[in-house]
Amino acid sequence: MHAWQVVDGYLVDTLVGEDEALRAARDSARRAGLPPAEVAPNQGKFLGLIAAMIGARRVLEFGTLFGYSTIWLARAVGADGTVVTFEVDEGYAALARENLARAAVAERVDVVVGPAVESAAALVAAQTEPFDQVFIDADKPNNPRYLAAALLLTRPGSVIIADNVVRDGRAADPTSTDDRVLGVRQFLADTAAEPRLDATAIQTVGSKGWDGFSIAVVP
Ligand code: DHB
Ligand code: MG
Repeated sequence: MHAWQVVDGYLVDTLVGEDEALRAARDSARRAGLPPAEVAPNQGKFLGLIAAMIGARRVLEFGTLFGYSTIWLARAVGADGTVVTFEVDEGYAALARENLARAAVAERVDVVVGPAVESAAALVAAQTEPFDQVFIDADKPNNPRYLAAALLLTRPGSVIIADNVVRDGRAADPTSTDDRVLGVRQFLADTAAEPRLDATAIQTVGSKGWDGFSIAVVP
């Protein structure tokens, strides 16, 4: 075990307070054989703290998986808040709904099943009220499309966070032909080129290995 995995365990035990509903959600996913791609507990809390800091009432998530980060975000927006979360896999979405119900936040979360590009386009067409925070954590090749959609679904002051922008350093390889790396690199280039965004990215190391988040604000 790497030292940083031990440290993540220590930090989570000491500070984060992952409760039974979150643990049960993760256990449900392991039993069902879902990929272990959920955010770490301290990362989930980070997402929730950002939401609390900006007073987010409406959060949009690309990539529900089994609802782990969704629970953190749903708790952070409070009983009057809303999380809309996109998931392409019907089975994952069903498991997420069970996990959200167990965490007692199902009534504030809308799990939308389908390709996220299409789900987002439907929200744009419906002129949905803007979201205060967006979390992009779905299939990486589509990241540039998710960013474009997020820009249409936010307002000045909204925060856009993306997971997995480092991926063991592969994101920094300009010669990569991996679709996921290309998606992340195009996403970061688009973020930098977008005059409506001010952004940074932070590398992380912990129970999920070496990775990172980008965070941008819509000025
Ligand atoms: C993968 C996806 C993620 O969002 C993540 O955080 C880790 C891994 C994956 O597709 O392998
Ligand atoms: Mg991720």
